Amino acid sequence: MNLKNSNHDLSGFDLYSYISNKNILINDALNKIINSSRDSSLLTRAMSYSLLSGGKRIRPVLCIAASEAVGGTEFDVLPAACALEMIHTYSLIHDDLPAMDNDTLRRGKPTCHVTFNEAAAILAGDALLTLAFQILSSIQTNNNAAKWLKVIHLVSLAAGYRGMIEGQMRDIASENSNISLKELEDIHSLKTGALIEASVESGAILGNGKLEQIEHLKIYAKNIGLAFQITDDLLNVKGDPAITGKAVGSDKTRNKKTYPALLGITGSENHAKKLITDALHTLETFDNKSNPLRAIALYIIERER
Ligand code: IPE
Ligand code: IPE
Ligand code: MG
Ligand code: MG
Repeated sequence: MNLKNSNHDLSGFDLYSYISNKNILINDALNKIINSSRDSSLLTRAMSYSLLSGGKRIRPVLCIAASEAVGGTEFDVLPAACALEMIHTYSLIHDDLPAMDNDTLRRGKPTCHVTFNEAAAILAGDALLTLAFQILSSIQTNNNAAKWLKVIHLVSLAAGYRGMIEGQMRDIASENSNISLKELEDIHSLKTGALIEASVESGAILGNGKLEQIEHLKIYAKNIGLAFQITDDLLNVKGDPAITGKAVGSDKTRNKKTYPALLGITGSENHAKKLITDALHTLETFDNKSNPLRAIALYIIERER
């Protein structure tokens, strides 16, 4: 897709530098959180191994970019950005377990349970999830407590029972059954979309966005969230493990229900493009402060990792 859309020319915007700069901030904050105890227990090592192992940090970057889009800053949201990455990392550790996707490569390294052991991986995931809510609820706020409480609530909804976990459960259950495109869309929106939506919404709330702006950004996030998982499905078919840092072809081996399995490669690519076009459309009333969100939307379907 051309990095030029209807009203906003993004050709002068360097997304690579933007993401790199935000990653320095996020990684520094995550390092401080996880290393503050300075212990080298098996639990801490397993948590750090997965958390500080070079993910793209797209959820925290989205949280920051959403804050900036409504006039806020990265510092308004940093604890939330870190908590979202912890929840995401926990979900990956558990997703890779033998009882789930049984994967041995993640972020270019052996998965947590392979490097440590299954019990350590399960517990590292549990601890990262719990720590995320500890971080979210430890904020010293004078007048922003209601906003943080709202964020804690929406993140718990997205990550939990009727969000990501429900999506993961349906994903596993669908392995050996036939499902419709609508059922697949729901799985993808739950297992991956929900946390991406929560990342954008949290950023918009903590950046003091107006209600109308938040509503637009929720639609943007719903579209990019689904497109993100469609691209993940495509990378499992035609990606390069040396670049994605994870297995290719495993969805087919496990008889996973994916967009390429249901729509084919071109059909899936076209569907993802349509979702990104819709996402960009919802940003039309926003000014240039939302250029990072625009560029991230385009990146989501062009990425190779
Ligand atoms: C992979 O997420 C799993 C999905 C939910 C699609 P990412 O592609 O964001 O993985 P990392 O964090 O960069 O490793
Ligand atoms: C991961 O989905 C979703 C969550 C971890 C919640 P996938 O299983 O499709 O992602 P990868 O391909 O293993 O990263
Ligand atoms: Mg999975
Ligand atoms: Mg998986």
